[in-house]
Amino acid sequence: MKVWTVANQKGGVGKTTTTVSLGGLLAQQGKRVLLIDTDPHSSLSYYFGIDAEALSHSVYDIFIKSASLTADSVLDCLCPTKIDNLYVLPATMALATLDRTMGSEQGMGLVLKKALAKVDNEFDVAIIDCPPVLGVLMVNALAACDKVIVPTQTEYLALKGLDRMIRTMEIMGRSLGKSFDTCIIPTMFDKRTNAALESRKRLMSDYGGRVWEGVIPVDTHFRDASLVQLPISAAYPKTRGVAAYGKLLEVLGK
Ligand SMILES: Nc1ncnc2c1ncn2[C@@H]1O[C@H](COP(=O)(O)OP(=O)(O)O)[C@@H](O)[C@H]1O
Ligand SMILES: [Mg+2]
Repeated sequence: MKVWTVANQKGGVGKTTTTVSLGGLLAQQGKRVLLIDTDPHSSLSYYFGIDAEALSHSVYDIFIKSASLTADSVLDCLCPTKIDNLYVLPATMALATLDRTMGSEQGMGLVLKKALAKVDNEFDVAIIDCPPVLGVLMVNALAACDKVIVPTQTEYLALKGLDRMIRTMEIMGRSLGKSFDTCIIPTMFDKRTNAALESRKRLMSDYGGRVWEGVIPVDTHFRDASLVQLPISAAYPKTRGVAAYGKLLEVLGK
């Protein structure tokens, strides 16, 4: 199973949209896909109409019961979606308390990695959607993955946030003894605006080979797709947004 983490400490940059869009495309290709919501705001879960507050199991259980996890106890926490082969490990608000209750416990950074190892044979790809906060959840997501996807809005302020995110990953990488395979993706790109063109140029010059050479364009179909609780590729297959994530997937899959 490949594990990808979608992270950026800035909110509203397209993390959840990227997670859902890549997951939808992979599932349509016949891959068995698990999307993991680690944001206490549960945007990914709500996207698919899943209200984890009303469920008996969520990703929170994985952290609470980390010492006694089995493949079945992880699988018990998963929810199906309207798309074949596409499953969600939902989040709950309780996740927000983890930093306070467990943040300093030994080994807490590796809980998600261990949980995913239990279901390694059940899925081809797992994609972890992160909260916009550096805490125990993002640490877990980064420790568990083999690739980090960093969506970045193509505007000046978002680039500032990116500097912080890249520094955070360097510090984390050192403590985990790994260097991250990072792919920065320019999102919500509006080619008509100077700000978008300039910030893409700056991204390329500051981060070079780590920046995907394509862009995810502004496309209102992303919002429309979320209203019908489907990945954009299932709701509006012939859109610029789908084509762009398709191209990204070709690069990520290599
Ligand atoms: N390429 C895009 N074009 C237009 N709207 C987008 C695009 N990507 C995301 N959005 C919208 O922007 C908002 C924030 O995106 P989201 O993926 O939730 O960001 P994050 O998870 O980083 O907070 C959502 O309403 C989403 O539908
Ligand atoms: Mg989100």
